[in-house]
Amino acid sequence: MENKTEFIFKPIGYVRNKSVSVPRHWSVSDIEGELVIDSQYKDGIKDIKAKEKICVIFCFHKSPPFSQEKLTQKPPHIDAEKGVFSICSPYRPNPIGLSVLEVLEKSENVIKVRRLDMLDGTPILDIKPYVEYKEF
Ligand SMILES: C[S@@+](CC[C@H](N)C(=O)[O-])C[C@H]1O[C@@H](n2cnc3c(N)ncnc32)[C@H](O)[C@@H]1O
Repeated sequence: MENKTEFIFKPIGYVRNKSVSVPRHWSVSDIEGELVIDSQYKDGIKDIKAKEKICVIFCFHKSPPFSQEKLTQKPPHIDAEKGVFSICSPYRPNPIGLSVLEVLEKSENVIKVRRLDMLDGTPILDIKPYVEYKEF
Protein backbone atom coordinates (compact mmCIF):
# COMPACT_ATOMS: atom_id res chain seq x y z
CA MET A 1 0.00 0.00 0.00
CA GLU A 2 1.23 3.50 -0.86
CA ASN A 3 2.12 5.84 2.03
CA LYS A 4 -0.26 8.79 2.35
CA THR A 5 1.32 12.20 1.80
CA GLU A 6 -1.70 14.38 2.57
CA PHE A 7 -4.14 14.21 5.46
CA ILE A 8 -7.52 15.77 6.10
CA PHE A 9 -8.51 16.56 9.69
CA LYS A 10 -12.00 17.48 10.81
CA PRO A 11 -12.32 19.66 13.94
CA ILE A 12 -13.83 18.07 17.05
CA GLY A 13 -14.93 21.49 18.31
CA TYR A 14 -13.89 25.11 18.59
CA VAL A 15 -12.53 27.66 21.07
CA ARG A 16 -14.83 30.26 22.62
CA ASN A 17 -12.68 33.19 23.74
CA LYS A 18 -14.36 36.50 24.59
CA SER A 19 -11.08 38.34 25.38
CA VAL A 20 -10.13 41.19 23.08
CA SER A 21 -6.42 40.30 22.99
CA VAL A 22 -4.70 36.93 22.95
CA PRO A 23 -1.30 36.49 24.69
CA ARG A 24 1.66 35.20 22.70
CA HIS A 25 1.78 31.84 24.54
CA TRP A 26 -0.27 29.81 27.00
CA SER A 27 2.63 29.88 29.51
CA VAL A 28 2.12 33.66 29.96
CA SER A 29 -1.69 33.66 29.66
CA ASP A 30 -4.39 34.01 32.31
CA ILE A 31 -7.19 34.14 29.76
CA GLU A 32 -10.23 31.99 30.47
CA GLY A 33 -12.58 30.63 27.85
CA GLU A 34 -14.27 27.47 26.66
CA LEU A 35 -13.61 24.51 24.43
CA VAL A 36 -16.95 23.68 22.85
CA ILE A 37 -16.85 20.06 21.74
CA ASP A 38 -19.16 18.75 19.03
CA SER A 39 -21.91 16.72 20.73
CA GLN A 40 -20.98 13.58 18.74
CA TYR A 41 -17.65 13.53 20.70
CA LYS A 42 -19.05 14.25 24.19
CA ASP A 43 -18.39 10.72 25.48
CA GLY A 44 -14.75 11.21 24.52
CA ILE A 45 -14.32 13.99 27.10
CA LYS A 46 -16.11 12.19 29.94
CA ASP A 47 -12.92 11.60 31.94
CA ILE A 48 -11.54 15.14 31.70
CA LYS A 49 -11.77 16.71 35.14
CA ALA A 50 -11.36 20.11 36.80
CA LYS A 51 -7.77 20.97 37.92
CA GLU A 52 -6.21 18.73 35.24
CA LYS A 53 -3.93 20.03 32.51
CA ILE A 54 -4.76 19.05 28.94
CA CYS A 55 -2.83 19.33 25.67
CA VAL A 56 -5.01 20.91 23.00
CA ILE A 57 -4.01 20.52 19.36
CA PHE A 58 -5.59 23.05 17.06
CA CYS A 59 -5.49 24.72 13.68
CA PHE A 60 -4.16 28.29 13.16
CA HIS A 61 -7.11 28.85 10.84
CA LYS A 62 -6.51 32.63 10.53
CA SER A 63 -2.88 32.31 9.41
CA PRO A 64 -2.09 33.21 5.81
CA PRO A 65 -0.70 30.43 3.59
CA PHE A 66 2.93 29.60 4.44
CA SER A 67 5.69 30.89 2.22
CA GLN A 68 9.42 30.00 2.10
CA GLU A 69 10.60 33.33 3.54
CA LYS A 70 8.85 32.41 6.81
CA LEU A 71 11.27 29.50 7.38
CA THR A 72 13.03 31.88 9.77
CA GLN A 73 11.12 34.44 11.82
CA LYS A 74 11.77 36.86 14.70
CA PRO A 75 9.47 36.05 17.62
CA PRO A 76 8.08 39.13 19.44
CA HIS A 77 9.95 38.38 22.69
CA ILE A 78 13.35 37.30 21.20
CA ASP A 79 15.87 39.56 19.51
CA ALA A 80 16.95 37.08 16.82
CA GLU A 81 15.73 35.26 13.71
CA LYS A 82 14.87 31.68 14.58
CA GLY A 83 14.07 28.63 12.50
CA VAL A 84 10.33 28.02 12.36
CA PHE A 85 10.67 24.62 14.03
CA SER A 86 12.34 26.21 17.07
CA ILE A 87 9.50 28.67 17.74
CA CYS A 88 5.73 28.61 18.34
CA SER A 89 4.76 31.01 15.54
CA PRO A 90 1.29 30.67 13.99
CA TYR A 91 2.96 30.92 10.53
CA ARG A 92 4.22 27.40 9.80
CA PRO A 93 4.15 24.85 6.95
CA ASN A 94 1.35 22.92 8.66
CA PRO A 95 -0.72 25.46 10.65
CA ILE A 96 -0.98 23.29 13.78
CA GLY A 97 -0.78 24.66 17.33
CA LEU A 98 -0.35 23.00 20.70
CA SER A 99 -1.33 24.54 24.04
CA VAL A 100 -1.35 23.18 27.57
CA LEU A 101 -4.49 24.43 29.30
CA GLU A 102 -5.84 24.18 32.84
CA VAL A 103 -9.31 22.68 33.17
CA LEU A 104 -11.59 24.78 35.41
CA GLU A 105 -14.93 23.03 34.87
CA LYS A 106 -16.58 20.61 32.51
CA SER A 107 -20.19 20.21 31.53
CA GLU A 108 -21.55 17.76 28.98
CA ASN A 109 -19.74 19.09 25.93
CA VAL A 110 -18.02 22.27 27.15
CA ILE A 111 -14.65 22.42 28.90
CA LYS A 112 -13.97 25.69 30.71
CA VAL A 113 -10.23 26.39 30.62
CA ARG A 114 -7.53 28.91 31.64
CA ARG A 115 -4.30 29.91 29.79
CA LEU A 116 -5.82 30.36 26.34
CA ASP A 117 -3.55 31.65 23.56
CA MET A 118 -6.01 30.82 20.77
CA LEU A 119 -8.34 33.19 18.96
CA ASP A 120 -12.11 32.94 19.28
CA GLY A 121 -13.41 30.32 16.82
CA THR A 122 -10.13 28.38 16.58
CA PRO A 123 -10.88 24.83 15.37
CA ILE A 124 -9.81 22.11 17.84
CA LEU A 125 -8.29 19.01 16.23
CA ASP A 126 -7.55 16.87 19.28
CA ILE A 127 -7.18 16.81 23.07
CA LYS A 128 -4.68 14.63 24.93
CA PRO A 129 -3.75 14.26 28.59
CA TYR A 130 -0.76 16.19 29.90
CA VAL A 131 1.59 13.45 31.06
CA GLU A 132 4.47 14.34 33.39
CA TYR A 133 7.85 12.67 32.86
CA LYS A 134 8.50 9.83 35.32
CA GLU A 135 11.74 7.87 35.90
CA PHE A 136 11.25 4.26 34.80
C1 LIG B 1 2.70 32.01 19.18
S1 LIG B 1 1.18 31.11 18.98
C2 LIG B 1 1.42 29.82 20.18
C3 LIG B 1 0.29 28.85 20.12
C4 LIG B 1 0.56 27.52 20.77
N1 LIG B 1 0.84 27.63 22.18
C5 LIG B 1 1.69 26.78 20.08
O1 LIG B 1 2.80 26.75 20.61
O2 LIG B 1 1.45 26.21 19.03
C6 LIG B 1 -0.01 32.12 19.77
C7 LIG B 1 -0.44 33.25 18.88
O3 LIG B 1 -1.03 32.71 17.71
C8 LIG B 1 -2.04 33.54 17.24
N2 LIG B 1 -3.24 32.71 17.02
C9 LIG B 1 -3.98 32.11 17.97
N3 LIG B 1 -4.99 31.42 17.41
C10 LIG B 1 -4.88 31.59 16.07
C11 LIG B 1 -5.63 31.13 14.95
N4 LIG B 1 -6.70 30.36 15.11
N5 LIG B 1 -5.22 31.49 13.71
C12 LIG B 1 -4.13 32.28 13.54
N6 LIG B 1 -3.39 32.77 14.57
C13 LIG B 1 -3.75 32.43 15.82
C14 LIG B 1 -2.27 34.63 18.27
O4 LIG B 1 -1.64 35.79 17.79
C15 LIG B 1 -1.50 34.12 19.50
O5 LIG B 1 -0.95 35.18 20.22
